[in-house]
Amino acid sequence: MRTAAVTGAASGIGRAIRARLESEGWRVIGVDLRDVEVGCDLSTERGRTAAVDGVRGLAGGRLDGLVACAGVGPQFEPRTTIPRVNYFGAVAFLDGLRPLLAAGVSPAAVAITSNSITAAPGADGDLCRACLDGDEERASAEAATLHGSIAYAGSKLALARWTRRKAPSAEWAGQGIRLNAVAPGPVLTPLLQAGLDDPTFGPAIRAFPVPLGGMAAPEHVAPVVSFLLGEGARFVCGSVLFADGGTDAMLFPDRP
Ligand code: NAI
Repeated sequence: MRTAAVTGAASGIGRAIRARLESEGWRVIGVDLRDVEVGCDLSTERGRTAAVDGVRGLAGGRLDGLVACAGVGPQFEPRTTIPRVNYFGAVAFLDGLRPLLAAGVSPAAVAITSNSITAAPGADGDLCRACLDGDEERASAEAATLHGSIAYAGSKLALARWTRRKAPSAEWAGQGIRLNAVAPGPVLTPLLQAGLDDPTFGPAIRAFPVPLGGMAAPEHVAPVVSFLLGEGARFVCGSVLFADGGTDAMLFPDRP
């Protein structure tokens, strides 16, 4: 039986990923604030250590899949927490458990980013750079000065770039581990609902152009992650796969 560890497994997209993987015969170790096998707070160093140690304790010496899905949305307060969870929590989880993946069968990891990495003007700024410099205090301080949507997009852009930089490296591809990212558009979850209910964010989210129309369900993203973890994606490495109803393609038809 293949074993995967999934952060954010208690809600929304992470919970759907867990259900999808379990339906395919995976054993899943859930990591989240509560209601999972490994309860921890990924916004803190201590919580990240607890996450890695907790998964290691349950994994039985090997992991075949890792999914960094836990995240907080643009409306989360304090905003200083946004990069702590979305970038530093995700990277610490993936890096910390990479050695166990190296012992797995056809191992793969997926980071959940967001299509705001291209759709949100201002994502490519100082917060993104501070994340990629590994400077958590600077990234958090920067987030406090930004609109939540820019802090969110910057943290997710950093995670996508981290994925692209690490995927071909000796530690990842060199060990036979495939690392990819998924960039969803709007997915109806508690995180998005909090945005829709917000008087500032709600109208902007509803006005967001989605060529396929509407919003996704978490169950529409889960199979994309399962594909990236599976044999069908054997040669997929360092990709950022947009599952966003066509928004990125509509906004940027000439990329790449
Ligand atoms: P959600 O709120 O339903 O689930 C997020 C999970 O992350 C929750 O279970 C929460 O407890 C966990 N989490 C938050 N902070 C944590 C912390 N400090 N330590 C441990 N766990 C923590 O949200 P959703 O929508 O399922 O989000 C999942 C991922 O998908 C997030 O990274 C989000 O940024 C991303 N995403 C979501 C989109 C959407 O429209 N819902 C669009 C694009 C990306």
